[in-house]
Amino acid sequence: MTAHPINMDHQWLPFTPNKQFQADPRVMVAADGMHFTTHDGRQVIDGISSLWCVTAGHNRKPINEAIKKQLDTLDYATAFSISNDKAFEAAHMIAQLAPGDLNKVLFCSSGSEAADTALKVALAYHRARGEGHRNIFIGREKGYHGVNFGGMSVGGLPANRKVYGAQLLPRVDHMRFIHDPVHNAYIHNQEPVWHEDPLVELETRILALHDPSNVAAIMVEPVAGSAGWYLPPQGYLKRLREICDKHGILLIFDEVITGFGRMGTNFGADYYGVVPDMLNFAKGVTNGVIPLGGVICRDAIYNAMMHATSQEHVAEFFHGYTYSGHPVACAAAIATLNLFKEEDLFARANTMAPVLGDAMHAALKGLPNVIGIRTLGLAGAVELAPMPGSPGKRAFEVFLDCFHKGVLVRSAGDNLVVCPAFTVSAAQIDQIVGTLADSIRKHA
Ligand SMILES: Cc1ncc(COP(=O)(O)O)c(C=O)c1O
Repeated sequence: MTAHPINMDHQWLPFTPNKQFQADPRVMVAADGMHFTTHDGRQVIDGISSLWCVTAGHNRKPINEAIKKQLDTLDYATAFSISNDKAFEAAHMIAQLAPGDLNKVLFCSSGSEAADTALKVALAYHRARGEGHRNIFIGREKGYHGVNFGGMSVGGLPANRKVYGAQLLPRVDHMRFIHDPVHNAYIHNQEPVWHEDPLVELETRILALHDPSNVAAIMVEPVAGSAGWYLPPQGYLKRLREICDKHGILLIFDEVITGFGRMGTNFGADYYGVVPDMLNFAKGVTNGVIPLGGVICRDAIYNAMMHATSQEHVAEFFHGYTYSGHPVACAAAIATLNLFKEEDLFARANTMAPVLGDAMHAALKGLPNVIGIRTLGLAGAVELAPMPGSPGKRAFEVFLDCFHKGVLVRSAGDNLVVCPAFTVSAAQIDQIVGTLADSIRKHA
C-alpha cells in the first residue's frame, strides 16, 4: 500500500528500463535540500544533484519566488522578433561569467538543443565567411551531446547511436576515447598525465583524411560526464585549442555538466584555462527547476553572422525555438546565478571536491570488482568489472540497491557516478559513499 497511489499505465519513461521500473517503482513526490521523499514515504539522499542539475540543493526559496513573481508579471512572450527583459538580463549575467569574449548567448531549453544549435551556428558562420565547404564535424568516442540528430551524431555513445545508424549525420568523425585504464585507472583529485599524446591521431589521421580546410567544428565535453566522469589528460584541451586555431576549426565545449561550478570554477573552460569558440550550457543554470539551455558564442562569430546579410528585414540566422529565452526560465536563471554568488557556491564545490574524492578512494578502492576510480571537481566515478555477457548489469544492480538503502547514485555503463549538490556536507558524502561501498560488496 503506497502513501500516494499512482496510475503508472501511461508514462513511457526516458532512458529507463520501463518493465523493471513498473515492478520496482521509484517515484519522487517531494524534495528539500539534499533529500527526496518517495511515493512510499521514504527519504532518499540525492547523490547526483538530479543528474547534474540541482547544484544549489532542492527547494531553494529565492528561485521559487522569482519564478512565481515572473509568472504574475510576464508569463510568456514569443521569442521571435520581440523579446523579454529577463532574457536580456540572464544573457548579460551568463556572458559576465563566461571566459574571454564569449559574449553572445543563444537560448534554447535543453542540452540537446544547445548541441544542435552550436553545430548549426558553426555551419552558418563558415558559410557567412565564404567557407561553406567546411561542413565536417568531429566529436569523440563516448562523448554525449544529447539525443537530437546533430548531438547524437557527434556524440560517441554506441548504445545511443546504434539504432539510428543509417540516419546519423554524414561527414562526422570521432577522436579516440580519453581513458587509459592501464596507467590511469585510478585518478585521485588530479589531472591524469599521459605518456603519449592522444591528439596525434587527430592531426595525423582524422584531419589528414578529411583535410582540415573542410572541418567546421570539433565538439567535446571538457570532462566526459554522461559516459562516467572520464577526465582528459593534462594539457589535452590546450592542445586541442592549438590544433583548432592552426586550422581555422571552431572549438565547441559542451559544458552542460561542467558549466556553473562543478569543477569549482565558473566553467570547465576556466578550470582548464582554455576559451572555446562556443560553450553549451543547460541543467545547473536554473538549478534544474525549469528547462533552459543555451550556446555562448564568441563576438567574432556573432559579428560575422551580422554581416552575412545587408537586408534589414531578414533574420541573420534561421534558427530558434518557441521557448528560446522563456521569461520564466530566465527569471529562474537570474535567481540561480544570484544564489550561486551570494552563497559562493562554486567555491563551496571546490572545497567539497577533495572531500568527495578522498572519501571515494578510501572507501571503494580494493572492493570486489572495482577496476577504477576517477575523481576531480565535485564528482567521481567508480568503475566495476562488467558481468560477463551483461555489460552494465552489475552497476545497475548496485544503483538499485543504493536506492533501496536511501541513496541515489547514477549507473553509467559499468560506472557508478556521484555528483552531489554543492551544498552537500561531509557527513552526507560519507553516507553516500558508505552506502555505495556496502552495495558494491553485496554484489561481489
Ligand atoms: C554534456 C551534455 N550535453 C548534452 C546533454 C543533453 O542535455 P538534455 O538532456 O538537457 O537535452 C547532456 C545531458 O546529460 C550532457 O551531459
